[in-house]
Amino acid sequence: MERKKVTITDLQNKKQEHKKITMLTAYDYPMAHLVDEAGIDMILVGDSLGMVVLGYDSTVPVTMDEMIHHSKAVRRGTKYAFLVGDMPFMSYQVSREEAVRNAGRFMKEAGCDAVKLEGGDEVIDATIAIVNAGIPVLGHLGLTPQTISKLGGFRIQGKTAEAAKSLIEQALKLERAGCFGIVLECVPDLVAKLIAEKLSIPIIGIGAGKYCDGQVLVLNDMVGLFDRFVPKFVKQYVKLSHSISEGLKKYKEEVEKGTFPGADHAFTIKEEELKKLKKI
Ligand code: KIV
Repeated sequence: MERKKVTITDLQNKKQEHKKITMLTAYDYPMAHLVDEAGIDMILVGDSLGMVVLGYDSTVPVTMDEMIHHSKAVRRGTKYAFLVGDMPFMSYQVSREEAVRNAGRFMKEAGCDAVKLEGGDEVIDATIAIVNAGIPVLGHLGLTPQTISKLGGFRIQGKTAEAAKSLIEQALKLERAGCFGIVLECVPDLVAKLIAEKLSIPIIGIGAGKYCDGQVLVLNDMVGLFDRFVPKFVKQYVKLSHSISEGLKKYKEEVEKGTFPGADHAFTIKEEELKKLKKI
């Protein structure tokens, strides 16, 4: 069957047909191309960029310009997946106008299909304003890394009945505000199940168990390219940093020994040209 670009309707249909949605992050052209070629439904240019690519200690310092720069590269590598740009900290909190302007940059400059905002009650106004401007919004509830200090660190959210009830209410509000889906991070699996059942929009889990309508992981975590810490919910499908380190060591060794480049990796000049050259 001919492959077509993924749309919000496709994502909605997957939820209704109980087919799981696949989503991964990407931050550059080559990885976006591989993710897209693997048939993944959605690509998120996450602000996790700050930690796994730019080397910051958190996602807080990430700027709009950094997000746009990387989103453009991901767009160039993505043909079919639904592309979501992650709005960085302070790009949507100050005013509705600024939120719409910044969301618009993801669409106009980077060619994204949607944007993602972290939070519940506090982002309802911004969400409505962005949706009213014609830009699809993906919500993000549970553990929201941009406000980690307010949450008291990287910990599971919605563990008590009261906290879970509040999460469900926030999810319903985001749905009413017009979100086409919600990322749910670090939430007990049965709480995520309740939310996925109560809402008609897709719930994409990360550390939220198997009952969600789809799953997302940070690409560099799942391919073993970010080892500073590996959260419990991450499965490393390959260990790229190990393979890369092995390759780097071998390169250093061969250059130092003079075995690289060998004849296979060098260019030659014809004998007669060499003779002429020697006479010059
Ligand atoms: O920034 C990011 O990569 C994210 C995912 C964890 C969903 O928000």
